[in-house]
Amino acid sequence: MSKEFFKINYENKKPRNYKKFNIGIIGAGNIVENSHLPIYKKNNLNVKNIFDINQNKARKLKEKFKIEKYSKSLDEFLNDKSLDIVDIAVPAEFNKELFVKSIINKKNILIQKPLSNNLETAEEIKKIYKQSSLKSNVNHQMQFSPAISAAKSVINNKYLGKIISFKLFTYRFTDWSIWPWLEKIDYPEIRYNSIHYLDTIRYLFGNPQSLVTKLKNSDNDIKDKPMNTNIFLKYPDFYGELDIIHNSKEKSKNWRAGYEIIGDNGRCDGVISSMIGNGYNFLDSIKLTCKVNGLIYEKFFELEGRWFSEAFLGPIYSLMDSINNDTEPRSNIYEAYETLILVENVIQNQN
Ligand SMILES: NC(=O)c1ccc[n+]([C@@H]2O[C@H](COP(=O)([O-])OP(=O)(O)OC[C@H]3O[C@@H](n4cnc5c(N)ncnc54)[C@H](O)[C@@H]3O)[C@@H](O)[C@H]2O)c1
Repeated sequence: MSKEFFKINYENKKPRNYKKFNIGIIGAGNIVENSHLPIYKKNNLNVKNIFDINQNKARKLKEKFKIEKYSKSLDEFLNDKSLDIVDIAVPAEFNKELFVKSIINKKNILIQKPLSNNLETAEEIKKIYKQSSLKSNVNHQMQFSPAISAAKSVINNKYLGKIISFKLFTYRFTDWSIWPWLEKIDYPEIRYNSIHYLDTIRYLFGNPQSLVTKLKNSDNDIKDKPMNTNIFLKYPDFYGELDIIHNSKEKSKNWRAGYEIIGDNGRCDGVISSMIGNGYNFLDSIKLTCKVNGLIYEKFFELEGRWFSEAFLGPIYSLMDSINNDTEPRSNIYEAYETLILVENVIQNQN
């Protein structure tokens, strides 16, 4: 039984004409320096311009990643007629203003999650987008990561039969100090971390019928706000669970992150490698056990890449495809809005 037999598709396919898209980036912070730019550069994407309200940061990344230019003002950046795609990665409170100005200047947009820091503004972004003829995608890139894309392929190919249950989990220690601004957020874990998993759950299984949330305090909270999150999700025919622990006492190489998906014809166990150890110790993988022609097969697949940062190719490639084919990209504005609604439901339904 080979990998080919199981047909597990998880690669983010590069559009043939990727070189024709000129990309400009707004925001020269952590995520752009550590994920967007390294992976875009490694894959020869055309990054032409960068802007940040902090000029020094923009200049630093222009030099580090050999970008053609940096702009000294937002107007200068948006007047750059060569740009086809604007990639926005700033704190969410500035998303709407930058989104609207980019649309006015006829740019297609990739915007970081969360779509906005509140539902009202997210709805306004959605309305403005609907009226435009441009394309926009949201950087919910966990759903494009190897282990998650592989799970989707396994589910779509019906190797597991009818789904009975699923569980996504992460047991690790998270150092919150690199995101000091999280202190100002009412539910920092759900709004900035679990949102990735909730978007992924929507991608794999759709919206739940109902859910119950348990937030748990630990010795790794932010200002007494509970950072461990446990959610039970009910679907018409099955149940799911999300279990996120940020105060593990284990050695980092023994942390665990992944999922188990159980069906009436087998199970699939996945490893989300970015959340274990230093995040680069090994690759994503899945173990598939299922019945084929009356026989039980068990197969382990090591996958190419990780959530951080190969998955960052998914949203930008999907945006390019949508421009090429006049379709909606996969993690589009409407989907990201639905994910924000699920986040609100998780916050409202605490037990
Ligand atoms: N998808 C993911 O996995 C992921 C991971 C981390 C962060 N993020 C998101 O990316 C965004 C940025 O996060 P970060 O960790 O890079 O933050 P950061 O604080 O390191 O960087 C933000 C940058 O934006 C700049 N900035 C702020 N307002 C601006 C404006 N109006 N115009 C231009 N530049 C402006 C700041 O000067 C700063 O350089 C956040 O929304 C965050 O939620 C997503």
